[in-house]
Amino acid sequence: MTNEEHKILYVPGPIEVKRDTREACAKPMIGHRTKDFKALYAAIKPKLKKVFYTENAVMVSTSSGSGYMEAAIRNLVGKKVLNCVNGAFSKKWYDIAVSCGRPADKLEVPSGKAIKPEMVDEKLKTGAYDAICITHNETSTGVMNNLEELAAVVRKYPDVMFLVDCVSSMSGAKVEVDKLGIDMCLTSSQKAFALPPGLAMASVSARAFAKADKMPGRGYYFDLIELKKSYEKDETPYTPAVSLMYGLNHQLDKMLAEGLDARFERHKRFAKKTREWVKKMGFELFPEPGYESVTMTCIVDTKGMDLKKMQENMGKKGFSVDKGYGKMNEKLGAEGKKLTFRIPHMGDTTDQDLDELLAAFEEVIKTL
Ligand SMILES: Cc1ncc(COP(=O)(O)O)c(C=O)c1O
Repeated sequence: MTNEEHKILYVPGPIEVKRDTREACAKPMIGHRTKDFKALYAAIKPKLKKVFYTENAVMVSTSSGSGYMEAAIRNLVGKKVLNCVNGAFSKKWYDIAVSCGRPADKLEVPSGKAIKPEMVDEKLKTGAYDAICITHNETSTGVMNNLEELAAVVRKYPDVMFLVDCVSSMSGAKVEVDKLGIDMCLTSSQKAFALPPGLAMASVSARAFAKADKMPGRGYYFDLIELKKSYEKDETPYTPAVSLMYGLNHQLDKMLAEGLDARFERHKRFAKKTREWVKKMGFELFPEPGYESVTMTCIVDTKGMDLKKMQENMGKKGFSVDKGYGKMNEKLGAEGKKLTFRIPHMGDTTDQDLDELLAAFEEVIKTL
């Protein structure tokens, strides 16, 4: 066992949190109705705006990303939402809409495929929708939708709220919220932000707040109007996860010190290296060509390996790895298709970390 006697975490979220970040979270506690807390939130806000490339409010929630997925639905869907579904997490957003009692349609493509702009255009031109949900990076399949192309179509429909899940992409890939015209863009702490789980961050546009203001049934915990009132005072309506916000402030400083463009380039380099490794090993990539994620790689196990054994043996080498997204592999198996496994390369991963991980995979795979 290496690295402070723990298995280094390489599942596609939560991912490994470096020691300096864990230490930043371990600062002495402060009350959340104090000047110190206000100073902390005030320090976080402009840095988050830089990462999201927006002038919109970027709020921090003590919840995982699913909380803000529900907030987007409750606050911003009145008539009907179009849920673009290309895997488990985009399907989950549809399920959230249905469970919140909001009219919802699925625009669904098979796992491994991306959502294409013409499909979206076809649906939106019916005029049936006042919101669209798109998952930028489908963590179950490793498909990264092309947000620029999709945004160009969504922007043709000014009455449609553009809601984007960047849970496993934000800060690993450049998402220019204002340029793309995204009304609510959400992410979670435990992915490319390389923090422990427990926080969600979301940007909300002025027109989204205006719509929310008139929306009945916004609920309580995720009422965007209440959240905004507090946000403007550098506060939160409820007790926030102060420790994680210390960690967030630390991570944002690290990101900006590295330089956002350098950070995105590093993620691209790791994705390229991992894809080359996949080919060298004789595996295949699961996503359709041109839509491979830069924060993680979803691999088709063309060798039909015992993935559970692979996971166990990687564990013996000090790595906690993925053996594929459970439900998707079950479905692929039932259809007689080859299964998948995923390698994340996001957050604070270094070249050395990735080289060690891939070398360990190689050794383990040879023995299977
Ligand atoms: C793309 C995507 N969306 C949404 C979620 C749900 O986020 P959370 O687990 O932070 O609620 C996940 C979690 O893995 C995800 O990968």
